[in-house]
Amino acid sequence: MIGIIGATGTIGEALLKRLVELDVPARALSREPEKLRARLGEKERSMIEVASADAAEPESLRQSLKGVSQLFMAMSNSPKQIELETSIIQIAVECGVEHLVKISSPAFEEKAPVAIAGWHQEIERILSDSGLQYTVLRPYAFMQNLLRFAPTIAAQNVFFGSMGDSSCNFIDCRDIADVAAEVLTNRKSSGQIYTLTGSETFSYPQIASMLTDLLERPIRYINIPSQELYRNLIEQGQLPPWIANHVIEIQAMATVIPERPTDTIRHLLNREPRTLAAFLHEHKEAFR
Ligand SMILES: NC(=O)c1ccc[n+]([C@@H]2O[C@H](COP(=O)([O-])OP(=O)(O)OC[C@H]3O[C@@H](n4cnc5c(N)ncnc54)[C@H](OP(=O)(O)O)[C@@H]3O)[C@@H](O)[C@H]2O)c1
Repeated sequence: MIGIIGATGTIGEALLKRLVELDVPARALSREPEKLRARLGEKERSMIEVASADAAEPESLRQSLKGVSQLFMAMSNSPKQIELETSIIQIAVECGVEHLVKISSPAFEEKAPVAIAGWHQEIERILSDSGLQYTVLRPYAFMQNLLRFAPTIAAQNVFFGSMGDSSCNFIDCRDIADVAAEVLTNRKSSGQIYTLTGSETFSYPQIASMLTDLLERPIRYINIPSQELYRNLIEQGQLPPWIANHVIEIQAMATVIPERPTDTIRHLLNREPRTLAAFLHEHKEAFR
C-alpha cells in the first residue's frame, strides 16, 4: 500500500490524481479526513482510502501507517518541520515502511543560506541514517507560486520582487507528482536524490513580458529592495516573519547562485517537462 502524507497539499493533490489515473490504490493521510473525502471525485473515492493522521500525534501515525510499504511525504513548511518529519521517519521505521519518498528543496548553499533548505538538509540526513530505502525529490520553485502575484497583476498590472533579472528554475507541481508516482510505483531505489526543474529558466522581467503578450495589456515587474519586500509581505501579505524571511532568502539565493535546468524529468518520465508558457496560458483567467 502507498501512503501519502500531504495529500491535501499542492503536490499531494496532483499525486492522488496521477495514481488514480494509473489505477494504483493509495491511502491518503490528513488531519482533516472529512474535508479530504469531500474533495475526492467518484473514481478517486473508490481507489483512495482516507485516514486521519497528525504528525504531531504519533499514535495516529502508527494507526494510519499499518500495512503501508511505500510512503510519500510532502509536509508544509513550519518551524516544527524537522521535529514532525523526524517523527514520521521514526514511526515509518517502526511500522515496517520499506521506502519513503521525501519532498525536499534545492540544496542548502553556504554562500546564500536559506533556512528552510537547512531544515530539509537536516531531515535528509536523518532519513539517510534511518535504514529506510528512500528517494529525495528536490524541486525548485513551483510555477503554482506565481498565482500569488495574481491579485496585484489583476488590480494594478504589476508584481513585486527583489531578485532583479536573475534567471530562475520553475517546475509545474504536476511534474513533481508524476515523478513521485513513477518512483513509488516503478523505481524502488535507495539513496537517490533528484533535483527537479522545468526545461528553461526565466527571470521576472521575462515573465512580465510573457504575461503582457498573454493578457494583451502591459504587465510590469517592479524590483524593490529586499527590506521593503519583507515589510510588504508582513504588512500587506500578512505573512508570519519566518515565511517572509524565506521569500527574501530564496530571492537572494537566485541573485547569488545561477540556476540551471536539469534533465531529470526527461530522464525519469521520458517526456519534456510541462512549460511555463502552458502554465500561464492555463491560468490566464486568474491574472485577468
Ligand atoms: N513552494 C515551492 O516553490 C517549493 C519549492 C521547493 C520545495 N518546496 C517544499 O515543498 C513542501 C510543501 O509541499 P506542498 O506545497 O505540496 O505542500 P502544502 O501545499 O504546503 O501542503 C502540505 C501538506 O502538509 C500536511 N501537513 C501539515 N502539517 C501536518 C501534520 N502535522 N500532520 C500531517 N500532515 C500535515 C497538510 O495536510 P493536512 O492539512 O491535510 O493535514 C498538507 O497536505 C515543503 O516542504 C517545501 O519546503 C516548496
